[in-house]
Amino acid sequence: MSTVVGGAVILVTGASGNVGSALLERLRAKGAAAVGAYRDPAKAPAGQRAVRVDLGEPGTLVPAMRGVDTVFLLGAMSPAQTAHELAVLAAARRVGARVVKLSVWRADEGLSPIARLHRPVEEALRVSGLRWTVLRPNFYLQNFLRQGGIRASGEFSFPVINAPISFVDVNDIADVAAAVLTTDGHDGRVYSLTGPAALTYPQAAATFADVLGKPVRYLGFPDDEARSRLVGQGMPEFHADALIDVARAFRDGGAAAVTSTVLDLTGHPARGLAEFVLANRAIFG
Ligand SMILES: NC(=O)c1ccc[n+]([C@@H]2O[C@H](COP(=O)([O-])OP(=O)(O)OC[C@H]3O[C@@H](n4cnc5c(N)ncnc54)[C@H](OP(=O)(O)O)[C@@H]3O)[C@@H](O)[C@H]2O)c1
Repeated sequence: MSTVVGGAVILVTGASGNVGSALLERLRAKGAAAVGAYRDPAKAPAGQRAVRVDLGEPGTLVPAMRGVDTVFLLGAMSPAQTAHELAVLAAARRVGARVVKLSVWRADEGLSPIARLHRPVEEALRVSGLRWTVLRPNFYLQNFLRQGGIRASGEFSFPVINAPISFVDVNDIADVAAAVLTTDGHDGRVYSLTGPAALTYPQAAATFADVLGKPVRYLGFPDDEARSRLVGQGMPEFHADALIDVARAFRDGGAAAVTSTVLDLTGHPARGLAEFVLANRAIFG
């Protein structure tokens, strides 16, 4: 890989979210010319170049991409996600921008509804004539941050998956994305991203307990009950249904593989659960 930071302009969609905000921090640190795409540019941190983009308003796309060399494409989960991302590809073709797409674990197999949102975009990229790279992360460790029960009562709950999962830290996704965006040699590559090990939820609970020094247990609910709890916690029904279907898809261990992508592309080992819990212990209590 050789460095290509130079004057290339990178547009980061999903700029206010988990991955986008962490990625923009890395690009700034590397001195890259990065522009954050926000529905509300007032959300941009001080000093961040920002442009208004609403993926549901295709008319905002081409103006935001003028002078842009590379687009980091991150669509938020919704039934419209595929259409939103395909609109970005159409705009990227108009301006000739390279696309680095944030996808999902095993997207090509379409095993879950989330994978089926991403797969058509990956397929469209392959035949787009554009320069492209795809990142396919496994479950984010940051999904645990939504589990307020860890702090309140030493419990967390997910739909039952007894098989291990190689959770990945959003910070590592951002590190990999920053490396891909600022070096060459990644065209036509698909990178699957995981943490350093695969853990079952009970093993994850034991790690939380060790690091936090308090009992933490995992409650695995049958699908119907898990769905009602997720919706009751404020999750949109589409999102809750998708998570249940993901659990069904990976009960056979299909989310357990561990890859060396983080180490290969960043030079540092992937962050594990213990490191994540320690970094967020103020939240988990
Ligand atoms: N969670 C996981 O375990 C996991 C694993 C693998 C892959 N993924 C993929 O990761 C992606 C989500 O990443 P994330 O967690 O970083 O996202 P996130 O934190 O949920 O943030 C979503 C971002 O999208 C923006 N957004 C929403 N609707 C938009 C619209 N119509 N136009 C423009 N921007 C819009 C939001 O901006 P506002 O501030 O304006 O709302 C926000 O910046 C999804 O594609 C998902 O499939 C997730």
